[in-house]
Amino acid sequence: MRSITVDLGERSYPIHIGSGLLRTIGERCREAGIPLRSPLLVVSDSEVAPRYLAEVEASLHEQGYSVVSHVIPAGEASKSLAVYEEVITTAIQAGLDRSSAVLALGGGVVGDLAGFVAASYMRGIGFIQIPTTILAHDSSVGGKVAVNHPLAKNMVGAFYQPLMVLYDLDTLSTLPPRQVSSGLAEVVKHGLILDSEFAYWCREHAGDLLALDAEALGYALERGCAIKAVVVGNDEREQGQRAILNLGHTIGHAIEAVGGYGVFLHGEAIAIGMAGSALLAAKLGRDQGIYEDTVSMLSALSLPVSLPAEFSEDELMEAMMHDKKFKEGKMTFIVPDSIGAVSIVNNVQQSDVREVIAQLKKEGSPW
Ligand SMILES: NC(=O)c1ccc[n+]([C@@H]2O[C@H](COP(=O)([O-])OP(=O)(O)OC[C@H]3O[C@@H](n4cnc5c(N)ncnc54)[C@H](O)[C@@H]3O)[C@@H](O)[C@H]2O)c1
Ligand SMILES: [Zn+2]
Repeated sequence: MRSITVDLGERSYPIHIGSGLLRTIGERCREAGIPLRSPLLVVSDSEVAPRYLAEVEASLHEQGYSVVSHVIPAGEASKSLAVYEEVITTAIQAGLDRSSAVLALGGGVVGDLAGFVAASYMRGIGFIQIPTTILAHDSSVGGKVAVNHPLAKNMVGAFYQPLMVLYDLDTLSTLPPRQVSSGLAEVVKHGLILDSEFAYWCREHAGDLLALDAEALGYALERGCAIKAVVVGNDEREQGQRAILNLGHTIGHAIEAVGGYGVFLHGEAIAIGMAGSALLAAKLGRDQGIYEDTVSMLSALSLPVSLPAEFSEDELMEAMMHDKKFKEGKMTFIVPDSIGAVSIVNNVQQSDVREVIAQLKKEGSPW
């Protein structure tokens, strides 16, 4: 098992990564001091629950916990205020108290929703992340929890750190291949922002990662989580440096919004966004090699690096204007300086961004 600590003073917490961790969850809850008299709530989704919920419940029962589970429909649509209310109703009916904990068993959707339930139920109760997607190495670390509003994604939320993250690699074996690549986009992102050696390692070991080789995947998730943990440890509430984690996200979020959330998965949209950020870097005078290396890393992980022709430049620009990173006619972008180093650039011209979008469309088929 690999363990990392997210260093946040009294809110510090461990991330454990390894095989066979689901069956140890009961013991971990005991070790974390969650009392047996307080009921626990496990939130999961309709894809994950049939595969893994019974094992989690059994581990908790074995230690003597009373457990109630709430299964939401799989998919982003469940990160809603309506589903949030339903989960809160389950928590009240089950008699959760201030010493109870919410366990999130699933991907980023379950983690974000269950985390917001934990953050707000009785003004905050214990929270444990049990991520089951590769993407969730990102969403389960750092304490951002939220639900969507019909007008804007992640608009209602909180910073709320978990008590621990338990990452059982065995659960990843049932992920569909596109979900594997999508998650790996955020893994390589962590290399691209802070660790060039790791970014090149991801390219070299792309085959092993796509095949879910346990050794390669364990190392990649450990590095990804560790890099995120350092950034979050330095800037928990995104006053400054934490923004570098948004590499590729301004363009990526616009692609998600314009395409509708069904066309590209989050990591796929972010991959195209990272290719766009590298094009922007070249436009701002950085080495063209950054773009070539970025694209080769993403392509090796079977990720898209260009935009289908039907995406409208006007619609993408408009979606970016709505983005919170747009201020006084200038746009803020995370721009690579080299592989493994980025800057936050506040005065990017809209015309440069428009040219980058046009270039992304010229690069041909996205995959
Ligand atoms: N809080 C943060 O810092 C943060 C960071 C990045 C992303 N996010 C959020 O995370 C969400 C995306 O996360 P995601 O990609 O994990 O999506 P997800 O939770 O929707 O999971 C993707 C799909 O895989 C299925 N699935 C999950 N685990 C599985 C498994 N082991 N086997 C088979 N199927 C499985 C799910 O049911 C779902 O259909 C978005 O809502 C995004 O906003 C949050
Ligand atoms: Zn992301």
